[in-house]
Amino acid sequence: MSSPANRIDACVKRLRSGGLVAFPTETVYGLGAVATDENAVASVFALKGRPARNPLIVHVDGAEMARAYSANWPDAAQRLADAFWPGPLTLVLPRSERVPSIVTGGGETVALRCPDHPLALALIEQLGEGIVGPSANPSGGVSPTCAEHVRDSFSEDQVYVLDGGACVAGIESTVLDLTQSPARVLRPGVIGPEQVAAVLGSPVLGYVPGEGSDIRSPGLLGPHYAPRATTRLFTGQDGLGSLRTRRPGPAVVIARGAFEIGPDAQMLRLPSDARGFGAGLYAALREADGQNPALIAVESPPRSAETADERAIWAAVLERLTRAADAG
Ligand code: TXA
Ligand code: MG
Repeated sequence: MSSPANRIDACVKRLRSGGLVAFPTETVYGLGAVATDENAVASVFALKGRPARNPLIVHVDGAEMARAYSANWPDAAQRLADAFWPGPLTLVLPRSERVPSIVTGGGETVALRCPDHPLALALIEQLGEGIVGPSANPSGGVSPTCAEHVRDSFSEDQVYVLDGGACVAGIESTVLDLTQSPARVLRPGVIGPEQVAAVLGSPVLGYVPGEGSDIRSPGLLGPHYAPRATTRLFTGQDGLGSLRTRRPGPAVVIARGAFEIGPDAQMLRLPSDARGFGAGLYAALREADGQNPALIAVESPPRSAETADERAIWAAVLERLTRAADAG
């Protein structure tokens, strides 16, 4: 593999000529295109099979660049950027004229985030402008947490993959709407409302499924994060037993704990801590799906956790799994 600097050069060239680059972040791999290049952004939608009204996040290298894409940059945005950027927090603000309406799904707001990954930051810095970055997977599927996952979906002709190793967080960023007061979480992620409220010194509305938040963040409508195989959550040995009775046939069990999995089943163990579980979840779902099982049974997250960090991650994991289970 060529040096990081050469690979970044190649990516910048490709982006400047209207091409697409999959880039690593701390959450999942993004499908990058120059945010102001409408044709390139259109090809991102086309390649993903993404509905036109589902807006894209613009990835920036810091608060200064973010200001160019937002019509106003409130004090709250600056404080959150100071506290959490680079990092897995996406801020929704009024868009500036610089943002083409194809990026925002026709809406008047733009989502901005500064990813915490050296290659992503170097790429944006060298390009000198923002890149859109939906997760680099066909719409509705499981997000990629390593370069190989991206290559499973797209050819090198379609997308140049900047390999930056496995994503450390493994769950997409928290999307926070700053256009309303109090601020509201539109998509739960590893930074929870408690941490945001602590920085703002004011209350923050948590994510509530189906309570208006889904309409404001259209990506949360319909199936998402879904393996092809039927996916269900279970709690405890009895829960797993009755699930397997209801859905007979080959199964893959993804769990933190040890379980009697029964015949014709395979176990994928994940770490029991929130960070480890979140980091490994998508790779496990992909591996499970690859077996083409009649059932993917995933152990439910714990109902309570000691720290705000853990609570946020488990809430995000539960939201992704609930959505995967709703899909089929
Ligand atoms: O962690 C992440 O955010 C990853 C990495 C690559 O940065 N990106 C990502 O993008 O997850 P995507 O497109 O898969 O999800 C973006 C989410 C969608 O739910 C979308 O509806 C929402 O953010 N979103 C984007 N722009 C928005 C806006 N202006 N208002 C409300 N929600 C928005
Ligand atoms: Mg996505």
